[in-house]
Amino acid sequence: MAAALPISGLTAWQGLFDHARLTTGQTVLIHGAAGGVGSLAVQLAREVGARVIGTGRADDRDVALGLGAQTFLDLDADDLQHVGEVDVVFDVVGGDILRRSTELVRPGGTLVTIAMPPTVQPTDGRAIFFVVEPDRARLTDLAQRLRTGRLNPIVGAVRPLSETASAFARHRRTPGKTIIQVADEQATQHS
Ligand SMILES: NC(=O)c1ccc[n+]([C@@H]2O[C@H](COP(=O)([O-])OP(=O)(O)OC[C@H]3O[C@@H](n4cnc5c(N)ncnc54)[C@H](OP(=O)(O)O)[C@@H]3O)[C@@H](O)[C@H]2O)c1
Repeated sequence: MAAALPISGLTAWQGLFDHARLTTGQTVLIHGAAGGVGSLAVQLAREVGARVIGTGRADDRDVALGLGAQTFLDLDADDLQHVGEVDVVFDVVGGDILRRSTELVRPGGTLVTIAMPPTVQPTDGRAIFFVVEPDRARLTDLAQRLRTGRLNPIVGAVRPLSETASAFARHRRTPGKTIIQVADEQATQHS
């Protein structure tokens, strides 16, 4: 499970807190709430005391709500505009979802995206694209949360190194992170 944490965990943290400055009592809309980054963002946002609206596909509803999102929106069926205004949008999808989400940012709020540089800005807010940066201290903190059960990455599949290419094939839909196991744990222990 620890293998699912570093990039996704740091990305979720930096997006929510370093870039969007999410704080207690604010409302955050998290796209892809059942995915690798989004699932951790939901948990971190709830822990800081934010109200969380998660989005994704219909099949992702139970996972997102189970992680702590108070509301879930099916991006294929529900109207994004029904969300109303939010303090922060955390986008992992890009494209039209990103463009339409800028309209939901309340004055002074922030849209942060890890998908692509935004081409539209909120009327009275900021839109930020960033690339995750290494941060040893934060990673240590996130690892401690994982050890104590406060943070649970979703591991969708564990595949051997020899199946790496097919594990990431575009047609394959696996919720959460796909982990590539480089060594056989039991073989390593007994050698
Ligand atoms: N900038 C950075 O530093 C940074 C860091 C980490 C990741 N990333 C990028 O961020 C993106 C997300 O990463 P991730 O690890 O969270 O990926 P992921 O595990 O695939 O999660 C993305 C989630 O969003 C859902 N989704 C995507 N498009 C959707 C749509 N149109 N409607 C409804 N749901 C949709 C996916 O559902 P489906 O699986 O059904 O599509 C999935 O549940 C990737 O493109 C990744 O390369 C960027």
